[in-house]
This record gives sequence, C-alpha cells and structure tokens, in this order.
Amino acid sequence: MNFLSWVIFVPLQIALMPLAVVGFVVVAYKQIFVSKRLDASQTGIEVLNGRWIMHVFGMRKDIPSTRLAEVTPNTSVFGLSFFLIPLWVKYKISGTLALYPLVPQKGSETLLDLVPARTLYIDQILNRAAPDMEQFVLMGAGYDSRAYLYSEKHRMKCFELDRAGTQQLKTDTLTKAGIDSSHVTFIPVDFECENAFDKLSEAGWEPNRKTLFLMEGVTLYLEEETVRTTLRAVTERAAPGSTLVLDIYAEKFIKLVGRRAQRLVEYLLEYTNEGLRFGLPLEKDFERVLADFIESEDLRLGETFFLGRTHKTGPYGVVAEVLTQ
Ligand SMILES: C[S@@+](CC[C@H](N)C(=O)[O-])C[C@H]1O[C@@H](n2cnc3c(N)ncnc32)[C@H](O)[C@@H]1O
Repeated sequence: MNFLSWVIFVPLQIALMPLAVVGFVVVAYKQIFVSKRLDASQTGIEVLNGRWIMHVFGMRKDIPSTRLAEVTPNTSVFGLSFFLIPLWVKYKISGTLALYPLVPQKGSETLLDLVPARTLYIDQILNRAAPDMEQFVLMGAGYDSRAYLYSEKHRMKCFELDRAGTQQLKTDTLTKAGIDSSHVTFIPVDFECENAFDKLSEAGWEPNRKTLFLMEGVTLYLEEETVRTTLRAVTERAAPGSTLVLDIYAEKFIKLVGRRAQRLVEYLLEYTNEGLRFGLPLEKDFERVLADFIESEDLRLGETFFLGRTHKTGPYGVVAEVLTQ
C-alpha cells in the first residue's frame, strides 16, 4: 500500500501544483495581511494551522481548533486543503504519515517538526500535571484550544492572556464557532509593558491555589527581562506545587531561521509586532545552560524535551516543565 500511495501521490502532486500555489498564496495573504488589518497575531495562526493539520492527519484530536480555523478570518482551511490534498490522499491510502506532518523522532526533530513536536510534548506534560491543578493560565494564548480541551476533563478555572487585538479576534471567533468559553476569563495584556500577574489577580486568579501556567510559543517574542519577570512572578506569587510549561529557543534559531531569508523573516514578523528577541546559547552544555537560567529565578526543572538535541550544533529549542521550589 505504501508503494501504491507514492505512485498515486507523485503525479497527483504535480497535477495539483497550481492549486497548491493558490492555496499557499491565500493562506499566506490571510496570515500576514488580514492579521495586520485586525491587529492580531500572525504567528498564532501558524500554530492554529499546524493543529488543524495534525487533526486532519489523525495525529492529535482537536475539534475546537478545527472549528476555530474554519471561521477565523486570518486563515483559510480551503487554502490549507488545496495545499495538502495530495499528501492527505497518500495518507489515506497507506495509513502512514510521510513528509508532513511527521511523528517527531525524539531528539532529532527538524524545524519542520516544530509545531507538531512542541504540541505533543506539551500535551504530554499537561496531561500528567493537570489533574493536580485548580487553575489553568494560558500566557500568550493566541488561538490555542487547550482551555476547551482540558477544562472539562480536569474542571480547572481558566484564564487566557494575550494582546488586546488578538484576544478580541479569539473571543469573536469562539462565538462564531459556537464554542462555550464561559469557564474562561479573558485578560488583555501586553507582557512587555504591563504587569500580567497584577491583572490576573484583579481578574480573580487565586494565588493560593495550585496553578498550571502555559507559555507556549511566546518567550521568543519577548525581551529576556520580560521572560525573567514572568519566572520571578511564578516563584513569588504562585502557590507551592504550581507548574509552568514553556518553550525556549536557541540563539541560533532566533538569529536566523535561514540566514539568507533573515531580513525578510524579520520584516514580516515585525509587521505584526512579533519580532524574534529572546534565546539561550544552547550550542554547548545545553542542559546546564537551561538549568542555570531557570534556577537563577529560584525555580527548578521538571521534564524537558530538547528539540533536535542530537544535532551537532545543539538543539534549536526546548520544551520545559518548570516547578516551584
Ligand atoms: C506563536 S503564538 C502562540 C499562541 C499560543 N500560545 C499557541 O500555542 O497557540 C504567540 C502568541 O504570543 C502573543 N504575544 C507575543 N508577544 C506578546 C506580548 N508582549 N504580550 C502578550 N502576548 C504576546 C501573541 O499575540 C501570540 O498570540
């Protein structure tokens, strides 16, 4: 079946190339220009698209993400479908994944694996940690569906924080998609210039109750001091036993995601105020570098997943569970 699936895939991909180009252009246009017009995150769309694809290819069940993707104005599931039809047909014939998305190989993840790998590793930590928690705080929630995946299962009180424009689009989209968000408190905040924890307290977050914090795909857009301020606030203000799950990227990733394209990538990200800022020098002794960073704010590391750790220049990022002392 696998051989047959390739025999069908190759000519189909060639024949449908014009459709794929149209799909790509539509998705890119909406992600960049419609996001800009709506003053909303474009990088969050990258993640939402990734989760939609993971669902469609049977890697991870996520109905709320598919419903959000269908109605959000800054992406296009038709565009994504045009692009992915040949791969999907191949997947249906062979029953196995090929090219994209792929089940990540732990330690040898490529940049293409970034969203699937990060999502699955974070799921793993959250599934283990959540039953013990009373509150769930998503910092830089973007279009994440986790508050609608975990809350029912674990009955946690949920808070979503993000910049005002992105959050407004999220709440409008949730309503349009018919997703119940009555258990979620939405808090507009810019981490760079406002105190997220003061805002959380004002909105009903209870510091004395164990909290699961999630900061996924966010630290790289912040200044180092802002990341440190967040870690410090968890140390000083969260109840013992609380957990922060976050991802941090290597300086080599921040400085260039493909040197030649660096200027264009930087320009496009700054276009929606999402330039890359913070990274750690993970080239050598990366476990120590990460531990030193976390411990310098009086926290300790739990489970970690270094993405691409077997690469000769070191991992390009890490998903980490961070625990209060
Ligand atoms: C790549 S998206 C990730 C979204 C979400 N965590 C997920 O995994 O689907 C980055 C998110 O961080 C938010 N963000 C970036 N800088 C921020 C800031 N200074 N204050 C608040 N949110 C910020 C963006 O608006 C966006 O929603």
